[in-house]
Amino acid sequence: MNTILELEHVVKRFGGLVATNDMSFAVEKGESVGLIGPNGAGKTTIFSLIMGEHKVNSGSIKLHGEELTRLRTHKRIRRGIARTYQVPRPFAEMDVLANIEVGLMPDSIIGMLTSGHSEDEGRAIARSVGLGEGDLHRDPAELSMGDLRKLELARTLATRPQVMLLDEVFAGLTAGEIEQISGLLNEKRQEGLTYVIVSHDLRSLEPLIDSAIAMTQGTLICRGSYQDVMNDQAVRMAYLGQ
Ligand SMILES: Nc1ncnc2c1ncn2[C@@H]1O[C@H](COP(=O)(O)OP(=O)(O)OP(=O)(O)O)[C@@H](O)[C@H]1O
Ligand SMILES: [Mg+2]
Repeated sequence: MNTILELEHVVKRFGGLVATNDMSFAVEKGESVGLIGPNGAGKTTIFSLIMGEHKVNSGSIKLHGEELTRLRTHKRIRRGIARTYQVPRPFAEMDVLANIEVGLMPDSIIGMLTSGHSEDEGRAIARSVGLGEGDLHRDPAELSMGDLRKLELARTLATRPQVMLLDEVFAGLTAGEIEQISGLLNEKRQEGLTYVIVSHDLRSLEPLIDSAIAMTQGTLICRGSYQDVMNDQAVRMAYLGQ
């Protein structure tokens, strides 16, 4: 066992709402885990807590056994975690390539602007996610949802993560785009990346994951193989309503 990411008894409240209720789980290096649950279950909140975009009320989050809980987001990124957003969030005033280059140097936008090689690296990352040469100088506002999701992946890959948290990577995509992104994720996985993937599209998620975590109302209800989780009675009640 080689745990890379570990949550222990994590609690997050928004006012009276318990969005994360004593969540504990571990992810092994190189593992790909699906995080599923109905709308409002608290999946995105878990990602925000891991990234430090929200502060935990209690509990701990560790990467390689080291406590992250008190670190600011940019330090967590430097340690090797990155996320994509359910609603893509490109910098609107920058073109596609510049958006990727920001990820290459999260601590130094000035350094990025003055360094030539980040442009080559940015181009290579764009190519690797399937963004064409012709897309590089486009305004993100002109991109299709498929290309926006590719840009999200490119921006996070640029930070050279070890663990990627992917929030609804397939939402709004065509079957062809889903296939393309799945292929890319599998390729990166061969290179050793670890994933936690949130998706409502279970059919596309299944072939990408080693295990699944089901949650509802901030609480983990089942962890196991995809089939075991789908067959779990509590999961069926909470998630599938049957
Ligand atoms: N910043 C916030 N302030 C107050 N409440 C919040 C905040 N963020 C999330 N919530 C609430 O926390 C709960 C969990 O939300 P979250 O977005 O994590 O769910 P989710 O599982 O990602 O849902 P979806 O599948 O719809 O994306 C919801 O009840 C939501 O309204
Ligand atoms: Mg969400």
